[in-house]
Amino acid sequence: MERIGLVGLGRMGTVLAGRLLAAGAALTVWNRTPQRAEASVAQGAALAQSLPDLVASSDIVLTIVTDDDAIAAVYNADDGLLAGPAAGKLFVEMSTVRTRTIERLGVDIVARGAALVDAPLSGSVGPARQGQLLALVGGAAQDVSRAEPVLMTFCRRIAHLGPTGSGTTMKLVLNLPMAIYWQGLAEALALGSQFGLELSAMLELIVDSQAAIGALRSKAPTILGEQGEVAFDVTGVRKDLLAMIETGQSMGVPMPAASAALVSFMGATAAGHGSKDLAALIPHYVAAVRSTTTR
Ligand SMILES: NC(=O)c1ccc[n+]([C@@H]2O[C@H](COP(=O)([O-])OP(=O)(O)OC[C@H]3O[C@@H](n4cnc5c(N)ncnc54)[C@H](OP(=O)(O)O)[C@@H]3O)[C@@H](O)[C@H]2O)c1
Repeated sequence: MERIGLVGLGRMGTVLAGRLLAAGAALTVWNRTPQRAEASVAQGAALAQSLPDLVASSDIVLTIVTDDDAIAAVYNADDGLLAGPAAGKLFVEMSTVRTRTIERLGVDIVARGAALVDAPLSGSVGPARQGQLLALVGGAAQDVSRAEPVLMTFCRRIAHLGPTGSGTTMKLVLNLPMAIYWQGLAEALALGSQFGLELSAMLELIVDSQAAIGALRSKAPTILGEQGEVAFDVTGVRKDLLAMIETGQSMGVPMPAASAALVSFMGATAAGHGSKDLAALIPHYVAAVRSTTTR
């Protein structure tokens, strides 16, 4: 395997680093907050002192950071990934962001004689640990082929959708109905609660019906108020919805349902639930309805 660099050791990046190291990769890592790199270094990763150093010691550079602003920060041309020589390198960007961000980044990277594949990941930290993610990939065929052995250390499938940016568009397509689903579920459970139905009883029946999505069973404990592992947080869905709405509207797509879900996820963030698992939206919504209505 080629030498790998990985930028972004958050929830997802740390798990990906573990999979890469377990597969025997020569891995160099960098994280804005160096302390968060300690677990990966303890597992055998080298720690780059700077982003240009990481590029110099890698053939393929993976990035997985929060949002479009974080991409602008790590790929900057002053002291970021694009500050030094990059010819011949392959960058694989895996964050969930706007399509236009990736298209613009692709132009900057190609101008330096390097290549960009966007490969946002579907699936959370649990599937990542099991090597069961789905990569939604955009890029030239030869670059995607080059990225494949690396991606397959944590993915079960790589779906190549078209040129650079296509994987990112597909990721927004895929996450949009899920974000709206959580809002719909919050409204449904609030309705039942107002009539005295038990949250646990309603959830158990929904899980046992066609109204459940795949992720619902694992989210049920959080919906019922348990504090488990945070896989993806409320502010993360808020961030995704902003990217979906802006990207959709830029192409003439009205986004009324996504906009309604955004208001709700913003409300949950404002109420102090931003860093909780996304399913915390639901008990927040149910409780908010209960506290503001009488029957
Ligand atoms: N968690 C999931 O289930 C999941 C699943 C699929 C895709 N994703 C996507 O993967 C990406 C990362 O998610 P995550 O859950 O791993 O997030 P996370 O735990 O919050 O980690 C975010 C990472 O981005 C870095 N970062 C943020 N802003 C930055 C900036 N301005 N400059 C440099 N680095 C910055 C953080 O560095 P610091 O440590 O210094 O803050 C951290 O390494 C997101 O785009 C998310 O939508 C997540």
